[in-house]
Amino acid sequence: MQVSPKCTELMATSNIILMMYRLKIPLFCLSFFLVIGLNPVFGKGSDIIVWKSPTCGCCNKWVDHLKENGFRVENRDLGNTAARAKFGIKDEHGSCHTARVEGYTIEGHVPAEDIKRLLRDKPEAVGLAVPGMPIGSPGMDGPEYGERVDNFDVLLIRKGNSPIVFKKY
Ligand code: CU
Ligand code: CU
Repeated sequence: MQVSPKCTELMATSNIILMMYRLKIPLFCLSFFLVIGLNPVFGKGSDIIVWKSPTCGCCNKWVDHLKENGFRVENRDLGNTAARAKFGIKDEHGSCHTARVEGYTIEGHVPAEDIKRLLRDKPEAVGLAVPGMPIGSPGMDGPEYGERVDNFDVLLIRKGNSPIVFKKY
């Protein structure tokens, strides 16, 4: 079969397109892995500061829970009574640790997924609180509690208004 010059030119072009198409897939993979790989360095996880007692086991377990969920945690082992008052949480909603993240206050054993939802939705509020130390909440869970899980509420602490339930467990 006779191939006209026009035709070979066309074939060369289509080869380049095919090559680009083939290259695109590894390039896509590479950029994907670059994004994932650099995530811990430049990444998404929010910085959270936690005021707690240095010796409180449940505080440390809650901090581990935050880290496992991608938060970068800075500990202030100074107790949390002063921080709780300073950051707008009443004693009646108090617990063993107080945290600050992106301008919100987090009091007590609040699950990481609720903090993430708060940071996504960004409601006008002081923050979230789990009053007391409910068994089964993150940091108050595990074999030492016989895997017991009590019901508890995560409260949305509002500015100049009474709290509302943010999530029921
Ligand atoms: Cu605790
Ligand atoms: Cu604690």
